[in-house]
Amino acid sequence: MRIALTVNGEPCEADVWGGESLLFALRERLGLPGSKNACEQGECGSCSVLLDGVLVCSCLVLAAQANGHAVVTVEGLRDGDRLHRVQQAFVEAGAVQCGFCTPGLVVATVDLLDRTPAPDDDEIREALSGNICRCTGYQKIFDAVRAAAGETR
Ligand code: FES
Ligand code: FES
Repeated sequence: MRIALTVNGEPCEADVWGGESLLFALRERLGLPGSKNACEQGECGSCSVLLDGVLVCSCLVLAAQANGHAVVTVEGLRDGDRLHRVQQAFVEAGAVQCGFCTPGLVVATVDLLDRTPAPDDDEIREALSGNICRCTGYQKIFDAVRAAAGETR
C-alpha cells in the first residue's frame, strides 16, 4: 500500500507492506536512519519519534497507521545547521558513548521539556524511564537534560 505522511515538515510518500513498522519505513524507505532499532519490541526507546506531537515507539506503530499524520524524528529537530538545544546539551555534557540510545533519548527529552520546561529529577527519571542506555550510567544524560532545561529558565 502507498502511504502519504509528513516527516520533519516535508510531505512524503512510501510504498509499504501491511505489517511494516513506522520505524522500518523511516529507516529503509525514507532514508532516515536516526531512529534506531535496538529491540523492536517497545522496550528500549531507541526508536522514539513524535507522531502528531505524541511520543511513540516507532517500532510499535504500523507504517500504515502513520498515513495522513505528521512524524518528527531526531533528524527533524535541528534548525538548519544548528543543533536543537537538547542535542547540543547532550554533546556538551558528554552524554553520548556508543550513541545507540541517543536519538531516542533526545526525542524523549524534547517531548519532556515541551510539556515540563523545568523538570525535577523525578520528572526526568519518569519521562526517560522508557529509554534504556547500556553505556553511560545515566548521570551525564541527566546533566544534559538539566542543562537543556536550564536554558529555558
Ligand atoms: S526499537 Fe522500539 S522500543 Fe526498542
Ligand atoms: S550511549 Fe550506548 S546505549 Fe546509551
